[in-house]
Amino acid sequence: MFLNTQASSKSEKLINQTSSDKNISTLSQQVAYLLSDNHQALPLSETILNDLYQELPTIIYSAFQDEDKLALLEIHKTLYTIYEINFSHPLSPVCLHEHSSWLLRIRNQLESAWLNYEIARIQKQLPSYSEAEDPKLLRDWFIEQALLESKIDKNVLGFLKNQASIEQFNIFILSDATLNYRFCDALALSLPYSSEKVKAEISQNIWDECGHGIAEKSHVRQFVRMLTELGLQQPTYPIWQDWRPYAGHNIYFCFGLNRKHYFKAIGNLAMPEIFDSSRNRKVVAGLERLYSDARVKCEYFYNHLEADEKHGLDWLNNVITPIVEAQPEAGIELAIGGAIRMEAMRRYNEYLADRFGLL
Ligand SMILES: [Fe+2]
Repeated sequence: MFLNTQASSKSEKLINQTSSDKNISTLSQQVAYLLSDNHQALPLSETILNDLYQELPTIIYSAFQDEDKLALLEIHKTLYTIYEINFSHPLSPVCLHEHSSWLLRIRNQLESAWLNYEIARIQKQLPSYSEAEDPKLLRDWFIEQALLESKIDKNVLGFLKNQASIEQFNIFILSDATLNYRFCDALALSLPYSSEKVKAEISQNIWDECGHGIAEKSHVRQFVRMLTELGLQQPTYPIWQDWRPYAGHNIYFCFGLNRKHYFKAIGNLAMPEIFDSSRNRKVVAGLERLYSDARVKCEYFYNHLEADEKHGLDWLNNVITPIVEAQPEAGIELAIGGAIRMEAMRRYNEYLADRFGLL
């Protein structure tokens, strides 16, 4: 077995960097400090934990009632750090806290408040309960939702295709990098289930991510090669200073790491498999406009064109449909996961539109 050293060094650096700072005042800094070692070895742990418990309701209110962007960013940076524990070096001190009551208390409060906020926002998009329990109607709902594009979605993709400069394309690619390193893990979290058909389909997807057993062909390696070809550094931390891409990333792990959200995790994973191929076509057109050798430099995006088209249909036929046939009550959970993913995708495009000065 190989240790995921890239993941571990990333999480540990994040945690150690923050905890070595003199200033441990924000929520994400406090949690990073508390994760950095055994609490007996941390002189400020008790004080910081008490402060944190006292301040938590205020930051949660600012984020989800007032929609204060800094509070939202702080909460999502904190959740990102907490989820990264699951991918860190198994022998690192961070792992001592994985199931600690102090950490679960904070995580549960943040996740509950966040999901209440998200679910309130997607009510109008959801199918009725009876539609969600019908495999064919739910399948149609997934396709219909995945094909909906807001004005900003169209503008961002049109901009990448027709206008974005090399520097702007680099921002787009580096913004995507963090999820790329974790996507296979997000898929793996959705694997434990009783249906062999569902397991087979997700395993097929994981097999594709892993390059069919050839490490050099794995999607992570393809992405890293693209960064090298484009003269870009692999980012150690997310490049985002904005809550929206953090939330889109975190939702994979909020669902994937909570058994009660299993069906939401499935809906959340299925949706991008349906809409990604049309997105990738525009990205590839933009790369071809900028680079005469785009196919060589950016094989990652080319390889995803056809693969995602197939994955979308396969997820609908072999994951969504059999789950609802066996357990109709899971249908609405699948839809909630899918609708939250669409919301996350739209927010991500709004973030990109901001970065490109399109708003
Ligand atoms: Fe991939």
